[in-house]
Amino acid sequence: MHRQNFLIVLVLFGMALSGLIYLNSSQNNNRLIYLNSSQNNNSCYQHIPEQVVNKSKWKQTIVGLRSSPGLSYKQPSALVGRTDVASVTPWSAPIIWEGTFDATLIDSIYKQQNLTIATTVFALGKYTRFIKDFLESAEQHYFVGFRVHFYLFTDQPESVPEVKMGENRSLTVLKVQSLNRWQDISMNRMEKLEKLIENELAGEADYVFCLDVDTMFYGRWGAESLGRLVGVIHPWFFDAPRDQFTYERRPESLAYIPAGEGDYYYAGAAFGGTLEDVHNLTKTCREHLNIDAVKSIEAVWQEESHLNKYFLLNKPSKLLSPEYMWRGINEGAAPIKIVRFANVPKNYAEVRSNA
Ligand SMILES: *[C@@H]1O[C@H](CO)[C@@H](O)[C@H](O)[C@H]1NC(C)=O
Ligand SMILES: *[C@@H]1O[C@H](CO)[C@@H](O)[C@H](O)[C@H]1NC(C)=O
Ligand SMILES: *[C@@H]1O[C@H](CO)[C@@H](O)[C@H](O)[C@H]1NC(C)=O
Ligand SMILES: *[C@@H]1O[C@H](CO)[C@@H](O)[C@H](O)[C@H]1NC(C)=O
Ligand SMILES: *[C@@H]1O[C@H](CO)[C@@H](O)[C@H](O)[C@H]1NC(C)=O
Ligand SMILES: *[C@@H]1O[C@H](CO)[C@@H](O)[C@H](O)[C@H]1NC(C)=O
Ligand SMILES: *[C@@H]1O[C@H](CO)[C@@H](O)[C@H](O)[C@H]1NC(C)=O
Repeated sequence: MHRQNFLIVLVLFGMALSGLIYLNSSQNNNRLIYLNSSQNNNSCYQHIPEQVVNKSKWKQTIVGLRSSPGLSYKQPSALVGRTDVASVTPWSAPIIWEGTFDATLIDSIYKQQNLTIATTVFALGKYTRFIKDFLESAEQHYFVGFRVHFYLFTDQPESVPEVKMGENRSLTVLKVQSLNRWQDISMNRMEKLEKLIENELAGEADYVFCLDVDTMFYGRWGAESLGRLVGVIHPWFFDAPRDQFTYERRPESLAYIPAGEGDYYYAGAAFGGTLEDVHNLTKTCREHLNIDAVKSIEAVWQEESHLNKYFLLNKPSKLLSPEYMWRGINEGAAPIKIVRFANVPKNYAEVRSNA
């Protein structure tokens, strides 16, 4: 009788011990484990390895897409959408076209997040003539109802026109040195953006867009454009085979993309995203531009070439259709149902001092 009890105790002890060892090794492998003893309540839990998490220096923006109760909008369809354009990339990032989003719904979602959208433009030399139309049209169409902070880099702060800004919208003018070659202005931009994000925007803005100034807004550009890393499909190449893209084709440059590779050709005139992602983009492009410069090689389209290389290796999480950077308000193309943002007509020879 006693002997039997002792054996049972021994067997139970053995089972408990092997269970413990199994548990220990499972835990060490960070696997999902099931505990079936009553003590552990038949629940399953995942062992999360302890790690030192550094508090991010960027403002945290990733929150749920909360919708307001009772909001009325058209029923979304799982079957019907745009059929003349692609609205998703092969890596499952949305491509934003007219008809792929509901402005009322998307504004309602993002307005709850009390966002600040930093927006940068560079206006050097004769490009200061574009500032007024850019800012005035932005007041009409760009993130209307959101907090927008424009950062204008210029070598002539005195020639920045007076533009009446709405509530929650502001303009900061930053003086930069004059550069003569437009190629140098373009090269210098990435470094200025990198420093601005580090020194001014961290803790202030949630998203940043970097836009060309020789442009105007003609239609809505709003919260549908927000994403972690956002690129715009270039208006001249959205329907071209990739071997015709004007990527840098010399292997000596860090912007090199060989024939047979590439997704889309992205415009250098507009890109954006969260501070962390755009900071990494500008830092990488600045480093690569500098390394190329040391080797005396200048990529065929300077920062646009390096941007395209970055986006090939670090896929954007959202793409904007060429509606968001069109050729000009008077130019048409079948898939373009609305022009939101476009180049303004200009005489390159006149505004580029060395064209
Ligand atoms: C559990 O793992 C630790 C180290 O991960 C080891 O030192 C210990 O001996 C293990 N215990 C058992 C009962 O296997
Ligand atoms: C242990 O629990 C898991 C998860 O609840 C269950 O799937 C499994 O069948 C259980 N095993 C036994 C032996 O009760
Ligand atoms: C078992 O788990 C359930 C759900 O997680 C919990 O409500 C309950 O209090 C637990 N019981 C014991 C004895 O831990
Ligand atoms: C946390 O930040 C400190 C100082 O900025 C740095 O030295 C350390 O490597 C960081 N740790 C991790 C895990 O990123
Ligand atoms: C919204 O953000 C602004 C600027 O970051 C801040 O001053 C304001 O207090 C915030 N409002 C709310 C309701 O959180
Ligand atoms: C400006 O922002 C505040 C919140 O910080 C908001 O209550 C107010 O409605 C905004 N004004 C406009 C015109 O969007
Ligand atoms: C930052 O860019 C580098 C390329 O220079 C890339 O390897 C890295 O994954 C990027 N990091 C993030 C967080 O995007």
